[in-house]
Amino acid sequence: MKNTYITTAIPYVNGVPHIGHAMDYCLADTAARYFKLIGQNVRFQAGTDEHGNKIFLKAKELGIPVEKYVDINAKKFQDFIHLLGVSYTDFIRTTDQSHEKLCGLIWTKLKDHIYSSKYEGWYCTGCERFITQKEYDENNGVCSDHQKPYEKLEEENYYFKISDFKEQIREAIEKDEMRILPEFRKKEILKLLEDSPDVSISRPKAQLTWGVPVPDDDNQVMYVWIDALANYITVLGYPEKDISEWWPATAQFVGKDILRFHAIIWPAMLLGLGLPLPETLVSHGMVLADGQKMSKSIGNVVDPIEVINRHGLDAFRYFFLRHIDTFGDSDFTWDKFEDAYNNELANDLGNLVQRLATLANKNGIAMSDVDIKLSKEYTGLMNNFEFSKAFDYVWDRIQGINRRIDEEKPWSLAKEGKTSELEACMKSLILELLEVSKMLSPFIPGTSEKIEEIFNGEIMPPKTPLFPKN
Ligand code: MSP
Repeated sequence: MKNTYITTAIPYVNGVPHIGHAMDYCLADTAARYFKLIGQNVRFQAGTDEHGNKIFLKAKELGIPVEKYVDINAKKFQDFIHLLGVSYTDFIRTTDQSHEKLCGLIWTKLKDHIYSSKYEGWYCTGCERFITQKEYDENNGVCSDHQKPYEKLEEENYYFKISDFKEQIREAIEKDEMRILPEFRKKEILKLLEDSPDVSISRPKAQLTWGVPVPDDDNQVMYVWIDALANYITVLGYPEKDISEWWPATAQFVGKDILRFHAIIWPAMLLGLGLPLPETLVSHGMVLADGQKMSKSIGNVVDPIEVINRHGLDAFRYFFLRHIDTFGDSDFTWDKFEDAYNNELANDLGNLVQRLATLANKNGIAMSDVDIKLSKEYTGLMNNFEFSKAFDYVWDRIQGINRRIDEEKPWSLAKEGKTSELEACMKSLILELLEVSKMLSPFIPGTSEKIEEIFNGEIMPPKTPLFPKN
């Protein structure tokens, strides 16, 4: 049985979970469930990123000790992950003692590629990112994501020699040995790589105390991204454990805004450690609200918990995995969501299940020993992480079953007493529905389970619709 390792980005715990965080979790969860469905052994990491100035300053602003602040918020993220039905196997907090210890060991292993130098330049605390002069000039000194002027830093830091690995990373990306999805992001990353200077990987304690200590230097802590990226392997026990059973990761899910860290600094760290590069980096787009970035100041932030409370988890997963394009930016609006719920979930699928189960029950049709196959079209799309397209394909099949019922009119066969034709027609329709349900299981597992229960053995129509209209 093949081992598959799936990872998600770990969100900063400087606020409550939002729709954007749900994207990473739902996509990675879909992948994990799909690989399990096709018989693989899956390990699936999730976690929280708890160091750095952004978090430290927020705790200070609220007057809460930072240790307590991260505990409170990490719990909110854990609750959120459970609410989303994420089937993770490992959860890591970057403040876990074991993670901090392993990060220290990783740093020491990278020593040959680390040197100390002065950093004079710009920083954005919102992005937790060192900003080049070129970017500073292009953005007129203001971060467009956080609407805040970049800060000027002059400090003694440790640097990581990206230059030692540039060539190897470029080759791995070009040859798809570390595949970047979607394809069009590859070019952007190759350009960024070409212009990438060595990166600063520590901050003086005088500027930032809330981080993992740098080994053998009491005056420095690790730059938050170094400790954050390491989570993908410390969670497996590296470097104390042999991780070759699980590493390299099959797929790492990240938002397009943080692909640069995963496609440049992360592979450089891995190469420095003598570890293989991940097979695929899947970078998803952003969820927008009415075409705009969601932001507290604009007041257009959509609360995922409200969406789930209104229509249930599977309706949430349905919308975000099908109507939010896996790779591009997509819009959330309540109108679009309600339309999809009523027309697609309630009508196309909910009514289909009700209709078929009622007909089967009335005519004494029962299913046994069904052999369910996944179609090649579906597995082809899923293997390439084209989730929204695979979901569209499954939905076409659902609409196809509805059309078949209208054309084949099983109720007429019943009226005419054509018992064997009726049985063959119903069994073939139900078999197709069960196939579709299997293909839905990585996306909307709860619904898929309900459908299987309804049509397993003696068929009983559900007492309440799968997706009640409001
Ligand atoms: N802590 C880092 C990630 C470290 S991974 C080693 C971070 N955290 S974050 O909280 O800012 O973002 C976490 C994830 O949420 C990222 O993948 C990011 O792209 C995603 N999203 C945040 N807002 C988003 C949207 N509006 N839409 C979709 N995803 C976005 O970056």
